Amino acid sequence: MAQDDKRASVGIGLIGSGFMGRCHANAFRSVAGLFDVPLEPRLNVLADASDELAAQAAQALGFVRGTGSWQELVADEAVDIVAITAPNVLHAPIAHAAIAAGKTVYCEKPLSTTAAIALEMTEAAEAASVVTLVGFNFLRNPMIKLAREIIASGEIGEVTGFRGRHAENYMANSEVAHSFRTDPQGGGALADIGSHIISMARYLLGPIAEVQADCRTIHATRPVAPGASERAPVEVDDMTHALLRFENGVSGSLEANWAATARTMDLSWEITGTKGALGFSQEQMNELLLWSATPGRSGYTRIEAGPAHPPYGAFCPAPGHHLGFNDLKVIEVAELLSAHAGGPACGPDFREAYEVQRAVEAMQQSHADRRWITL
Ligand SMILES: NC(=O)c1ccc[n+]([C@@H]2O[C@H](COP(=O)([O-])OP(=O)(O)OC[C@H]3O[C@@H](n4cnc5c(N)ncnc54)[C@H](O)[C@@H]3O)[C@@H](O)[C@H]2O)c1
Repeated sequence: MAQDDKRASVGIGLIGSGFMGRCHANAFRSVAGLFDVPLEPRLNVLADASDELAAQAAQALGFVRGTGSWQELVADEAVDIVAITAPNVLHAPIAHAAIAAGKTVYCEKPLSTTAAIALEMTEAAEAASVVTLVGFNFLRNPMIKLAREIIASGEIGEVTGFRGRHAENYMANSEVAHSFRTDPQGGGALADIGSHIISMARYLLGPIAEVQADCRTIHATRPVAPGASERAPVEVDDMTHALLRFENGVSGSLEANWAATARTMDLSWEITGTKGALGFSQEQMNELLLWSATPGRSGYTRIEAGPAHPPYGAFCPAPGHHLGFNDLKVIEVAELLSAHAGGPACGPDFREAYEVQRAVEAMQQSHADRRWITL
């Protein structure tokens, strides 16, 4: 790591410059201005599918240089943290190379295309003692942290039920083309966004013990590429419903649906307890609903995010001014930098992401076998 006259720096290598690549780049650029992080990120190398794409993206996103070779990025001594925002099938080979080089690995979800591959990645990272973090950024919301604290405090009593959903509409139109998201190797609504609501359920209520799921493909074919007239069959789910039993005995259900007409970011859940309940939707991500049973005044209270809910105050001193999606990535990166510098482990690490992938696969297996699956 290079030293400057203020704070030590850490070299960032980013692989992929699409939706998530831009979000990661923004977080690495802005984190040191918002958080008292131990290391200042230096945006050193960006890799994309070709030299030309990488050079353009490196310039647009503020990286020193671009390359069409992720292998070259991983081997570069100017890269201490490898951020993987490329299609899912590339996560494992890149992560293995980065782990072998002893680098911190910050990988987007889902961790990989199968649970078996995710486990290999996890074991390699643990054997090499490298820091890993997987981009389940919705867990970084201060309202979600507050919900976990409320549950742990017993304020809503004993938890009795969970109803979760991650519903969006980006694949609702049958003319949306195939992409890595519909690749039979690890694609589908359940892997793509179901993984988020599974990670959230585990964060709030702990491990899932058993699942029974129904997966459904709504559009039988899609164009092979954007604008193409040729079509190919869709082999993954557009929508999955699952029943859950958690290890702590709580029963519940979840839905993963990327063809949910009218929904844009409904990562939502309701948790019921013997004395109260909690409700949340990412579409109103600055609010947490808390139900209280006070006689004559029972109902949901809307708790509004503000500086009382760390780290909201790092962004704004006034309540009600709202954090946004990109801010969750900044919080995630702040925790990553602290862990990279030897601070507390920041999770969800590869092992936690492997557990999420196991739940995804158990639901797919349950659908195929038409039975409950024990994890
Ligand atoms: N955490 C979240 O909220 C969230 C949201 C969206 C996507 N994701 C995840 O982020 C990852 C990327 O998704 P996206 O929506 O940004 O996809 P995208 O298609 O917008 O971007 C993918 C990028 O990877 C690049 N790429 C393709 N092949 C490459 C190669 N061989 N070497 C280097 N780069 C290559 C593409 O050119 C593109 O720049 C996926 O794993 C996805 O599941 C996470």
